[in-house]
Amino acid sequence: MNTPTTTVDWNAYAEKYDMLLTYNPFYQEALKEVLSRVQNWNIKAGDQIADVGAGTGNYSVEVAKLFPQATVLHIDADQGMNTIAAKKASELENFQVLGKSVDKVHFAANSLQGLLCINAIYTFPNPQEELQNMYRWLAPGSSIVLIDAGRIMNVSSWTLALTWRLLRKYGLRTTLNVLGEAKAVSQQNAYIRKNQQNGTFWTHSHEEFCEAVTTAGFQIEFAETCFRGDCDLIIARK
Ligand SMILES: C[S@@+](CC[C@H](N)C(=O)[O-])C[C@H]1O[C@@H](n2cnc3c(N)ncnc32)[C@H](O)[C@@H]1O
Repeated sequence: MNTPTTTVDWNAYAEKYDMLLTYNPFYQEALKEVLSRVQNWNIKAGDQIADVGAGTGNYSVEVAKLFPQATVLHIDADQGMNTIAAKKASELENFQVLGKSVDKVHFAANSLQGLLCINAIYTFPNPQEELQNMYRWLAPGSSIVLIDAGRIMNVSSWTLALTWRLLRKYGLRTTLNVLGEAKAVSQQNAYIRKNQQNGTFWTHSHEEFCEAVTTAGFQIEFAETCFRGDCDLIIARK
């Protein structure tokens, strides 16, 4: 008999992850909001932008398209996620995948002109340390955009909220198909919840997240909650 696991299997998640992009209006909203802000960044030829915990590349690939004059470094520890991202970016010459855990990544101080970290910090073993590293890597005056899941995920409430929206938009048949397909996502979300409950993953209030970002040295320019209040969005500058 297999031992039951509560470890999040990002590889298993990767295969179905982009259902979020196709069907989750909250994910689509957050992506749109982030890109609308990132597009105003002053990025010059030869600059480097990193996306840490970049997943299947939904953010990093779009950022690479926005700034063909810069290099986008897509950093993620999971090979399944990185394979999907690399496929999406196959036509882009300014996109590099770094398949490493964040704690094994080293950049020179002040060497990045933009940073993103979307719903990944809470999974890192040392969130505050990684925020400090990001601050060190970023060039003075450059921007970072952060989203982080701070509150314990209520999987049933999320399933209900999404079912309701899917029903309204696509009708019963598609909704049932999507929910069937999304079982792997719900399973990984249940593991995320367990890891939040047992303290393996960082949970925080909006205020605590703002404080952690400020403590790392950043100046917050904009902060609000997103994903139905479960996550925090921060735009900050070094
Ligand atoms: C919830 S996903 C977010 C993906 C992407 N940022 C997005 O919003 O679509 C979290 C990602 O963090 C990555 N991750 C988890 N721990 C990591 C670590 N120690 N180093 C680098 N990436 C990590 C996972 O592989 C996964 O792709």
